[in-house]
Amino acid sequence: MKIALIGFGTVGQGFIDILQEKSDILRTIYGFEPTIVAVATRSRGSLMHPNGLDKTALLTAIEQGHLNNYPDTDGLQRDLPVLDLIDQCGADVMLEASWTNLDTAQPATDHCLRAFQNGQHVVLVNKGPVALHYDLLQAAAQQTNRQLRYEGTVMAGTPSLTLARESLAGCTITSARGILNGTTNYMLTQMEQGVSYEAVLADAQAKGYAEADPTADVGGWDAAAKALILARGLFGANLTLEDLDVTGITDITLDDIEAARQAGERYKLIAEVTAEGGSVRPVRLPLADPLAGVSGSSNAITYETDLLGGVTLSGPGAGKHETGFAMLADLLAIMRYKPL
Ligand SMILES: NC(=O)c1ccc[n+]([C@@H]2O[C@H](COP(=O)([O-])OP(=O)(O)OC[C@H]3O[C@@H](n4cnc5c(N)ncnc54)[C@H](OP(=O)(O)O)[C@@H]3O)[C@@H](O)[C@H]2O)c1
Repeated sequence: MKIALIGFGTVGQGFIDILQEKSDILRTIYGFEPTIVAVATRSRGSLMHPNGLDKTALLTAIEQGHLNNYPDTDGLQRDLPVLDLIDQCGADVMLEASWTNLDTAQPATDHCLRAFQNGQHVVLVNKGPVALHYDLLQAAAQQTNRQLRYEGTVMAGTPSLTLARESLAGCTITSARGILNGTTNYMLTQMEQGVSYEAVLADAQAKGYAEADPTADVGGWDAAAKALILARGLFGANLTLEDLDVTGITDITLDDIEAARQAGERYKLIAEVTAEGGSVRPVRLPLADPLAGVSGSSNAITYETDLLGGVTLSGPGAGKHETGFAMLADLLAIMRYKPL
């Protein structure tokens, strides 16, 4: 499988690490032998070689700060613009691991459309295009008879979408309700120990959980983008961010947390979607709710189903290898898939 990797930051590097560490197992057990034919960044160069790039040399070059540090070889092309690189690289699959833009989802959406035009399957960990332009992408996938996969956009490599769509196939899912943002869950968990909102936000930023501008996390917008993806992917619901009722955790005080504790409850930022709509808001959950016990930066989701009742999955919702694994899982799924 020839792969083009657009975005070579934390997740892209985590994905290449996994390919390196598990290459023997991937080949012998799964028959999976990936070749990286192109890698692109925004400010640290791009590389393309139709016969494949050396994974160790790629990681060394980016660790040294720029893909220009990759050694010269016959046939290597440097610094092609991303769309030209997608046109010329001959990949079977394009991985979109560039920056999430929840305003326009660009330029990642154009990367995906260009990949489909070139007959490539598309795998995203970037939420933007799936949250904002799902129909456009799905139509392009269908027209070109290629797959659109995006497991890593919700709960990283914890298989929230695959569980719902494959393992629960045949059940009717009536709602999805989850803790989909690790930063705010970490903050609420710390606040239960009496740490103020301001102090825990500073702590989350210092630990790298929260961005310098934390609005997407604490305002509920990151969870809302994931709710849209679930609404689309599970229910076919044509929602936009404006259709969701979104409230973050910015107004939650230590007094609120304490009042919940005294009532035997716990505050969680809950994203909920059904076929009709959805919301993201802080909710006081009874301790018996499986989501109430999910602490720290973990994520979890409960699917309400007709045949099984509630089914809850919890696990990491972010991380270099946790999200890199999501791309591997999607690639293995593409490899297994045989159209009828
Ligand atoms: N990190 C996580 O745990 C996690 C979990 C789930 C989903 N995600 C999603 O996965 C994606 C990647 O996350 P990350 O943590 O790896 O981010 P990151 O470390 O900031 O890396 C982003 C990469 O994308 C590149 N990039 C940005 N704009 C680009 C463009 N227009 N064309 C080509 N490359 C571009 C950046 O280039 P430079 O190297 O020049 O900056 C960088 O290499 C994001 O969309 C994120 O929301 C991340």
